[in-house]
Amino acid sequence: MHSPIPRKWWHDKIAYQIYPKSFLDTNGDGIGDLQGIIRKLDYLKDLGIDILWICPIYRSPFVDQGYDISDYYDIDPTFGTMEEFDLLLAEAKKRDMYILMDLVINHCSDRHPWFQKAAADPEGEYGNYFYFRRGKNGGPPSNARSYFGGSAWEKVPGQEDLYYFHAYAKAQPDLNWENPKVLQELYTMVNWWLEKGLAGFRIDAIINIQKDTAFPDYPADAPDGTASVVKMIESVDGVGQKLQQLKKHTFDKYDAFTVGEVFNMRQEELAEFVGPEGHFSTIFDFSPNCLSDGPGGWYRNREIPFSELRSTIFRTQQECQGIGFLANILENHDEPRGNSRYLPPYARNEMGMKMLATVNLLLRGIPFLFQGQEIGMTNCPMESVEEYDDINTKAEYALALEAGYSRQEALEICCRFSRDNGRTPMQWDDSDNAGFTAGTPWLKVNPNFLQINAKEQQQRDDSLLQYYKKLIRLRKSPEFREILAWGNFEPLWEDKDMLLAYRRVLDGRDVLVMANFGREAVTVRDSLLENRRVLLSNEETVLHGSCVTLAPSQALVVG
Ligand code: NOJ
Ligand code: CA
Repeated sequence: MHSPIPRKWWHDKIAYQIYPKSFLDTNGDGIGDLQGIIRKLDYLKDLGIDILWICPIYRSPFVDQGYDISDYYDIDPTFGTMEEFDLLLAEAKKRDMYILMDLVINHCSDRHPWFQKAAADPEGEYGNYFYFRRGKNGGPPSNARSYFGGSAWEKVPGQEDLYYFHAYAKAQPDLNWENPKVLQELYTMVNWWLEKGLAGFRIDAIINIQKDTAFPDYPADAPDGTASVVKMIESVDGVGQKLQQLKKHTFDKYDAFTVGEVFNMRQEELAEFVGPEGHFSTIFDFSPNCLSDGPGGWYRNREIPFSELRSTIFRTQQECQGIGFLANILENHDEPRGNSRYLPPYARNEMGMKMLATVNLLLRGIPFLFQGQEIGMTNCPMESVEEYDDINTKAEYALALEAGYSRQEALEICCRFSRDNGRTPMQWDDSDNAGFTAGTPWLKVNPNFLQINAKEQQQRDDSLLQYYKKLIRLRKSPEFREILAWGNFEPLWEDKDMLLAYRRVLDGRDVLVMANFGREAVTVRDSLLENRRVLLSNEETVLHGSCVTLAPSQALVVG
């Protein structure tokens, strides 16, 4: 049966996330740049990528790596110039590729002129661009705790008892979405970029725009009496109206593609978010990532049991079909590397990575690869906490120490969960600094670049990189494109403990995907397997009638 969802231009596309600081440095300052992205467009095209999401490149003091914007209309000189950005747009267009920017509009930087003017004159026009509140009982206005730890309130510079709200770092004051002037500023800015030729945006932290403007206290969930801002976000209604207005005034006019970073959505609101009239084209499916979250800091995180990974993927796939499309990821710049997280230790090798890629890329939804995923970059071992750059990692390290862990243990916790795991420089080849820079890299290069790098994998036929190309080619092949983009998702053989198998079905045709996450071979007997042909596998495979045996870490796709 055909999906009732009207088809959109982006439904059958493959996206790739670029973390520009770490992609490719072309001027030797140790930081990736726009010219570096331009230089690698052919590499990305050859991989099969259609859409590029570029993490923030706006002017910024980089307290939170560009998620603190001080000028929405400018490119940070670290990355290059607006002319170079325009060149990137033109070069992408030549190759039929689309560019998404990051849209960070829950907050800006405390260096943004809006905030500077607000602080200089809190009673003036700009004071109302932010959430300024008087303190309570000699302390902050509420007990809200920011995502990066500590109070979500900071004193307005130069003011005695006046605070501003920041859900993230104190250098990231939240914008007042109740103020129509702020909304107008933001709509104008979004349209300005779309007018330039952007295909759309990845939309940062967007669920946070809806506040309880009375900023009440919530029951404490930390020893210091604070309560996570999540408590407030989960208790308020009305974000949908704001998002519909945003869409109507901007994205809708350009048929733009938008992918929301949405946490803490209520499941029953899925259609409002990604349905045909939804706030966004799609949202990331973070449900597998969230499986490792513990009830507090990273030190309370856990390993993900395979059974939960499988049931979670199956659940979100089934919940979404008939409603809309999710964006499927294994990792991003805020997460550890996917292969270090989802593969059991015995499968953390190239074969296992091919298996994980197969499972992920053939799901129903828009695949978003993160730079380096296609060559199997792994978490990076750091020798000391000083080697980290990420503001969040430092906060989590401190939390682990406070909770009684030793320095070594706290470091190990960061090695597993740090956001810098995904941010180390791209490993292009086996020359100095992995070919990322001729200078000193801003963040340590993973020492495994001698073994894991793009050049080696370009030259080797059975590499992970070549396998990704085959997977993407299969997804786009005239024969299977429709099934793999629009076909329904159906779980298979859940009685097999370590097998993750499903089929994609459209108009009576299907593709079967199976992956053996276990240490032992798995045999499946089912008439569904009869008269099949192998479309792709990471291992030699023979099909015998209705029976197939998968080796450990084997992935098999049949049509
Ligand atoms: C989510 C971004 O992906 C993350 O890197 C950032 O720190 C926060 N939002 C705040 O903008
Ligand atoms: Ca540079």
